[in-house]
Amino acid sequence: MSQNNIDAHILISMTYASRANSDVSAEDFNEILKQAQENNAANGITGMLTFNKDYFLQTIEGPRAQINRLLYGLIADQRHYDLQLLETREIKHREWAKWSMNYASPTEQNAAVYLKYSTTVNFNPYLLNAESANNLMRELSSI
Ligand SMILES: Cc1cc2nc3c(=O)[nH]c(=O)nc-3n(C[C@H](O)[C@H](O)[C@H](O)COP(=O)(O)O)c2cc1C
Repeated sequence: MSQNNIDAHILISMTYASRANSDVSAEDFNEILKQAQENNAANGITGMLTFNKDYFLQTIEGPRAQINRLLYGLIADQRHYDLQLLETREIKHREWAKWSMNYASPTEQNAAVYLKYSTTVNFNPYLLNAESANNLMRELSSI
């Protein structure tokens, strides 16, 4: 049995914030999303990605080994920097089971949701505690 399969039944959820590199465009965001969705479908990973101008906020969930492997890739990815973990925990059930990678970026419809979770003039995920980050993504997802 490969190392992968040994802990495949142990699921974890990981949430992080990062800063988008200044040259990351809307097309790059679409590219990241497409890459995430294709890879995740193959790797048993699900989750939610939010992008707000300067920042990413993402939850990834799946088998522990796969999530750890993705974390290395994310840290090495030059399209963002200053990756900071907000939360890592074991889960019994996936929250984002239906999505290889769900996503939300700012629109007129969801502006009030971002504002609700902003303690400063601009939305800044580094200032969120884990519970707020999770609630924000749930609310963005339901719009
Ligand atoms: C904000 C952000 C979110 C990403 N999310 C994912 C993801 O959910 N799954 C994934 O496989 N790659 C994701 N990536 C891409 C990875 O950092 C990395 O480029 C990719 O996993 C490498 O895939 P490859 O081995 O097929 O080249 C993301 C990148 C960024 C910048």
